Amino acid sequence: MMFMKWRHSAIMLLINACCFSSCQQQLKEEISMNEIIEQKVDSLLAQMTLEEKVGQMTQVRHFDDISDNDIASKFIGSVIHTQGPLPGKGAAEWQSKFIELQKQALSTRLAIPLLFGVDAVHGQNTYEGATIFPHNIGLGAAGNPDLVERTAAITAIEAQATGFTWVFSPCVAIPYNEKWGRVYEAFSESTELTTKLTKASIRGHQGELSERETVMATAKHFVGDGSTDFGVEGGNTSLSSEHVTQRLLPPYQAAVKEGVGSVMASFNTLDGKSMHAHKALITDTLKGSMGFDGIVVSDWKGYSRFGETGIINAGIDMVMAVDGDLEDYQSGLKEAVENGTVPQERIDDAVKRILRQKYRLGLFDHPFPDTTLIGKIGIEEHRAIARQAVRESLVLLKNDNSALPLKKKAKIVVVGEFADNSGFQSGGWTVNWQGSTESYKGATTILEGIKDLSEAEVIYDKDGSGNHEGAEAAVIVVGETPYAEFFGDIGGEMDLFQHTLTEAHQNLIESYRSKGLKVVVILISGRPLVTTEQIEQSDAFVAAWLPGSEGDGIAQVLFGDHDFKGKLPHSWPKSVEDYKGKYGPNFWDDSIEPLFPFGYGLSYR
Ligand code: BGC
Repeated sequence: MMFMKWRHSAIMLLINACCFSSCQQQLKEEISMNEIIEQKVDSLLAQMTLEEKVGQMTQVRHFDDISDNDIASKFIGSVIHTQGPLPGKGAAEWQSKFIELQKQALSTRLAIPLLFGVDAVHGQNTYEGATIFPHNIGLGAAGNPDLVERTAAITAIEAQATGFTWVFSPCVAIPYNEKWGRVYEAFSESTELTTKLTKASIRGHQGELSERETVMATAKHFVGDGSTDFGVEGGNTSLSSEHVTQRLLPPYQAAVKEGVGSVMASFNTLDGKSMHAHKALITDTLKGSMGFDGIVVSDWKGYSRFGETGIINAGIDMVMAVDGDLEDYQSGLKEAVENGTVPQERIDDAVKRILRQKYRLGLFDHPFPDTTLIGKIGIEEHRAIARQAVRESLVLLKNDNSALPLKKKAKIVVVGEFADNSGFQSGGWTVNWQGSTESYKGATTILEGIKDLSEAEVIYDKDGSGNHEGAEAAVIVVGETPYAEFFGDIGGEMDLFQHTLTEAHQNLIESYRSKGLKVVVILISGRPLVTTEQIEQSDAFVAAWLPGSEGDGIAQVLFGDHDFKGKLPHSWPKSVEDYKGKYGPNFWDDSIEPLFPFGYGLSYR
């Protein structure tokens, strides 16, 4: 026994020693690789003209912003794709379009490759047919870092397959107020959970970074985007600097530690100061004390919206000079350097950061997309992970009268147009910026999933007309129609829009209640809604968030093939009053008791 123990510790010592020396070796290799990159960056920078440097600091769209030879003649550093004309019909055409632009960039004197960036925020969601994961709020409910890492790694593959090397994700906001239209883009209202999942997301997206199947990630929006007063997109965040440091910065710290390649500045102001021009936070804190050595990118039209060259002095390295901003930005920045308003050292620092990331990504060695990746878009292996994410994201808020699991042999009626529409179930940033109200290629709806697993008749009552003859249970799917950014704001202090279900959706639940069937409600939404009455009216109630392309994952849990695992990533408001008080004038008002606390969630067990 003694011998065994001794032998075990000796082996452990040996293993540790080996790890130590191999870790040391790895560390040494990393250091020397970094040194080599820094030397290359310095030598390239030394050869660059001011026009070339300003060019590197410029990001444009691949259509209206540029004409024929602009990529080369304006020395553009990066191309973005989001809403707008698609680069082509299929992935091969997307790649060809980007290859053509890359060739232009490589035809310049210094042949610096372009970075191609995309808003792939829950899968490569700009490409119809890609695997679409639950939005981050669903991943927050799943709370599983390994799963987040895998979803991010798949997003990276499918983004690379369509020609991109950079994604503007993850959003690491900490939403304090559900009135904000971007709550679903963030993982949770909890700093701790957000921080944990942020790390996993960066790891998944970036991997070793220089690999062909990984992309540069972006932690966004720096900082305070989710905690504006009354949840207004781009509004003012009036939190103390201690609060910002303790509650909002930790996910960024974690992202930097994981080596995140870029950080995007936020539209909001912090105590009245535009975040794009916030030198103390961008330069002193993020780049200074936190040690971030990557790219700070502006948000949309950052130059014309937030103080022109002031944003460069604050520490923005690359500007989305889109939608009419290109000429003014390039000439304005050049002039500002020439007249001394923007120091040359600031420009050099910005360009170094951009070149550094391009080297780290291996773009100088392989500037063109890998055509073999096209075959991986939307494959079953990827969808299986998305389906797992859907299953794990579901939060069971109520289950009375053994309403769930559904019996496979019992006749059921599925109610509402949300039940059979993958556009609705995926939310904003899916196929289009504002999402889609129609189903899209490759996705499976909730109804399809139910039909597939059921061993009895499934009736579909799309409009709630009441056709349910002989059914034992009704699965009613209700929710929010897709929105993105400020389109989803509930209306600031004015409360212009609803925090509740629409009247039509409320009626669906109410009318089925009186029919004597078991009523199971599935809520598709980007945030908790005030549904106190509807929860009372139903036997079972499931918060399904915005599950994405694999609607059948929901059916698998409803029928009990898998258990519920999700836990609330946000506390769930009881009344419209709660929404008002949660943040704003009564910040963290302790007198408000949520209907369900953060972390709540039932299971079959
Ligand atoms: C959003 C960003 C997004 C960018 C590029 C902005 O309006 O705030 O999150 O990455 O557009 O599409």
